[in-house]
Amino acid sequence: MATTSGRSGIFAVRDVRSLITETAEEGHGLKKAVGATQLTAMGVGAIIGTGIFVVIGEGAGIAGPAVILAFVLAAVSCTFSALSYAELASSIPVSGSAYTYTYATLGEVVAWIIGWDLILEYGVSVAAIAVGWGGNLNAFLDAAFGFALPDAIAKSPEDGGIFNLPAVFVVLAITFLLIRGVTESARVNLVMVVIKLVVLLFFIVVAFANFGTGNFQPFAPEGVDGVTAAAAVIFFAYIGFDAVSTGSEEARNPAKDLPIAIIGSLLICTLFYVLTAVGALGIASPEQLEGSDAPLAAALDQGAGISWAAAILALGAVVAITSVVLVIMYGQTRIFFAMCRDGLLPQRLAKVNQRYGTPARLTIILGVLIAILAALVPLSEIVKLVNIGTLFAFVLVNIGVIILRRTRPDMPRPYRVPWSPVLPIIGIAFAVYLMTDLPWDTWVRFVVWLAIGIIIYWLYGYKNSRLRREAGSTATPGWARDNEPNRREDGDQP
Ligand code: ALA
Repeated sequence: MATTSGRSGIFAVRDVRSLITETAEEGHGLKKAVGATQLTAMGVGAIIGTGIFVVIGEGAGIAGPAVILAFVLAAVSCTFSALSYAELASSIPVSGSAYTYTYATLGEVVAWIIGWDLILEYGVSVAAIAVGWGGNLNAFLDAAFGFALPDAIAKSPEDGGIFNLPAVFVVLAITFLLIRGVTESARVNLVMVVIKLVVLLFFIVVAFANFGTGNFQPFAPEGVDGVTAAAAVIFFAYIGFDAVSTGSEEARNPAKDLPIAIIGSLLICTLFYVLTAVGALGIASPEQLEGSDAPLAAALDQGAGISWAAAILALGAVVAITSVVLVIMYGQTRIFFAMCRDGLLPQRLAKVNQRYGTPARLTIILGVLIAILAALVPLSEIVKLVNIGTLFAFVLVNIGVIILRRTRPDMPRPYRVPWSPVLPIIGIAFAVYLMTDLPWDTWVRFVVWLAIGIIIYWLYGYKNSRLRREAGSTATPGWARDNEPNRREDGDQP
């Protein structure tokens, strides 16, 4: 039963204990099948994609060679929030990530807003990323076989096509895989992660073998402002470590494995990104990077004179982006699953398929909706909108850590953010700082998106919220008031 821990109305707060208990309900229990390596690979799978293969060019255009510092700044900003995600994911191993944590701290309406916001980060971005996938597939076909799909079936209407067939294809193929099972999905993801790391390593080795310092002057033509503006865009490249936390409920050993996977995947990707950025500038100018849709391939081609590498880079990008689509879409289904289970969206959709142990019905519906969107949307502006939505989630997760430390001081925390609340406050400051660096029209779109969400909450979620429907009969005291242990112990198996 859904219980509150005190407050009622739109700010009712979910009791942490009942959140965890519900994960074992008949028909709503997900299969606990994923270990630390697969979780870390999921993080890397979600992180390395369009950002490093495509958006790096835009960053170099904004900051010049100092785009390297933008990569570092974006990574540092993410680190503080990653620590907070690690604490909450290990303490509340329930699907839904920031949405669930907010429900347990700031209350229902804020949770709904963040859930709605996460649809931007996950659902909408998958559609846009799938479009980037189609572009890279064409680049690969062109580089390898001198053949490309015609624009009419490879681009959105705004980009001069009719319908983006490759984008639809990849979304539906991934939908099928996700329905089949989390183990199968994690296994396929692991293979793709290895391939994309090998391709980036190839780039780094070739770039350093041809390295020159000529492109590093002037290092930061736009000064500090250029670096922070570039970091606000480059931030996109780091999105994804938080996707690990959407699947907390399927982790075999959430207490230990989730912090390892969240922080580990961020560290691995930061290392690869900084080396890639330094290498790229070592062989190509910021203008060369900015002027290409496939900046890394262009760097090898124009900077190191290796034209055949374009096919390898394009293939690497296709594989990389496939795993981003896989993990981000996985995250989207799990957030929706949690929102449906809570009654803020139709509860009957939160049904787990007995054969596969996945929310199959929900996955099909989301897959079809995302495929339709992918057929029609362009990539460009979506990146900034996704960034602002994700940064907003980071702010709330950091606030969540601070609040839960006060309201549930005794809650078992397998992982604790050191020096709380100082580090979470720094995490908030970084996220807000990067948000303020995004253009005002992105802010307007974001506010309109949230306003639509509030209307939907008012019309549906408020009336159907499981917490509200069951509140009348909740005499159960909150988690903090009885001292029973509520976490799965290390080694807890499905
Ligand atoms: N970080 C992911 C990417 O760069 C979203 O594609």
